[in-house]
Amino acid sequence: MSKTISQPAQIVWHPATITRHSREQQNNHRSVILWFTGLSGAGKSTLAHAVEDYLYQQGMKTCVLDGDNIRHGLCADLGFSDIDRKENIRRIGEVAKLMLDAGLITLTAFISPFATDRATVRRLVQTDDFIEIYCYCPLTVCETRDIKGLYKKARQGEIPEFTGISSPYEAPEQPELKIDTHLLSIPESVACIIDFLNSRCILPSNSLQNAYR
Ligand code: ADX
Repeated sequence: MSKTISQPAQIVWHPATITRHSREQQNNHRSVILWFTGLSGAGKSTLAHAVEDYLYQQGMKTCVLDGDNIRHGLCADLGFSDIDRKENIRRIGEVAKLMLDAGLITLTAFISPFATDRATVRRLVQTDDFIEIYCYCPLTVCETRDIKGLYKKARQGEIPEFTGISSPYEAPEQPELKIDTHLLSIPESVACIIDFLNSRCILPSNSLQNAYR
């Protein structure tokens, strides 16, 4: 569980020599946070990695932060209580902000079930820097997929506080993008996101529109 620690006055911010702007110029694209949110099994990780794969092939600088992976290291001390999930998202928000400054297109794949925690991350950065992508898939479909077998265990009571079963998921009210992952193929979903990035002038102007299709 986190506690608020006020920073002593003797800790002074050291400004970067190489700025985010310099890095963006060198990379020939803007940095941004693509925040994928949705139920377990909704396709967040799959889509984040597929988008990264496309961007990487186009020569862009990217990084994926994936819930299951981050919980092996940085957030290995956290469970799935509301308070732990809040701390999980707080840490990821801070890491994503660092990556933004490092000039990367940062893709995060976390359930991030609470609207207030997602809003806190949004407020950490400039308005245009945070793109919330709601991976929508009905619970019944996620449960049928049950790729990791976790929904079955949650239904049997073996996993407490499981999102969608015994812990809430607050759907985004105004995400920048909503992807119906149960209706669209992965290439179609990637194309939606690339089109959006192009519409926001995040990618180089010579980046081909709809190239993924
Ligand atoms: S979050 O709620 O704090 O954002 P996060 O995305 O890091 O969650 O981790 C979710 C992943 O942990 C799921 O994809 C699933 O594989 C696994 N998991 C294990 N226990 C739970 C649980 N109780 N609720 C949700 N996901 C769980």
